[in-house]
Amino acid sequence: MKKLRVLVVVHASLIPPEKLEGYSEKQIDEWRTEYDVTSTLRKMGHEVRCVGVLDSLTELRTMIADWKPDIAFNLLEEFDGIVTYDQHVVAFLELLRQPYTGCNPRGLLLSRDKALSKQLLAFHRIPTPQFTVFRRGTKFRPARKLRFPLFVKSTVEDASLGIAQASVVDDVTKLKERVEFVHEQVGSDALVEEFIEGRELYVGVLGNERLTRLPVWEMVFGSMPESLPAIATRKVKWDKKYQTRYGITTRAAADLPPGVETQLDKMSRRIYRALGMSGYARMDFRVTSEGQVYVLEANANPNLEAAEDFAQSARAAGIAYDELLARLMGLGLSYQAEWRAYYG
Ligand SMILES: Nc1ncnc2c1ncn2[C@@H]1O[C@H](COP(=O)(O)OP(=O)(O)O)[C@@H](O)[C@H]1O
Ligand SMILES: [Mg+2]
Repeated sequence: MKKLRVLVVVHASLIPPEKLEGYSEKQIDEWRTEYDVTSTLRKMGHEVRCVGVLDSLTELRTMIADWKPDIAFNLLEEFDGIVTYDQHVVAFLELLRQPYTGCNPRGLLLSRDKALSKQLLAFHRIPTPQFTVFRRGTKFRPARKLRFPLFVKSTVEDASLGIAQASVVDDVTKLKERVEFVHEQVGSDALVEEFIEGRELYVGVLGNERLTRLPVWEMVFGSMPESLPAIATRKVKWDKKYQTRYGITTRAAADLPPGVETQLDKMSRRIYRALGMSGYARMDFRVTSEGQVYVLEANANPNLEAAEDFAQSARAAGIAYDELLARLMGLGLSYQAEWRAYYG
């Protein structure tokens, strides 16, 4: 690949240092993804600069105007603490006619809003758990059409924010409690879905028009107590001690029921297109013991840490980490943003 000027766009508190020496594991964990990406891009010979974004776009704009990066490597997941605002930053890049990695603003908007994306998926007859939305500020009514156990989560948050064992509810009292928790503590509308018991599978996709599907990855819940529902709570996803204690890990899915892999492949591609995604994404699925597949959500711009699922599953497909980053930049450069039709 030609040597590029790469502007890595990160959260202002996550600008990684050049070297890891002198930092504790805990400190490194905060910006490991940012470090993995910038250090690997540098090793590949690219000219790399980092810009931190908090609540202003001035510095980003100045860097783009003065330095003229070939590509912005987008690692931003929020703007001013608001997770749904990352799409506006990407829209800003597009208005500046700045090529960027990852998903376009429309795909970000459609996939981030879980209720909206489920409506779109339902239109395309892509199976997703039955659901209803409890808006903030409206009176609670029992969800009569849904069958318990139910699962309560935020309509927009990710990384399992607000997800704990108490998210699985068996009766109306518990449902009301958890809906109020999401409204008050998480600060968003609540999405209530039928609880799908089964294996949890992740499928990575990259591409704009032509799509590459990565090997099916599985969240293995290890020896978590039988009494606890096997779900990816915040602890399961992020607490390393907890993961070691119970043998929680992710790995290539083995022994899938017949036909499931083909279904996952087809569904992942259809979801990607239905939600207008580009760049790269990871779909979360559950498959029941009868082999019925449901999509839980589509994640645009999934975590790119070298040791996390997306990069790991790429590696399993023979795509090394540096090659993966190169492909994501290639996709960013070739993405046919609206402005290209007018200005080339
Ligand atoms: N309907 C459901 N049935 C069973 N488990 C669910 C359901 N919805 C979510 N979960 C569990 O909660 C986790 C997080 O939910 P998800 O919708 O993927 O949100 P996030 O954006 O936080 O990853 C999932 O990985 C899964 O383990
Ligand atoms: Mg998820």
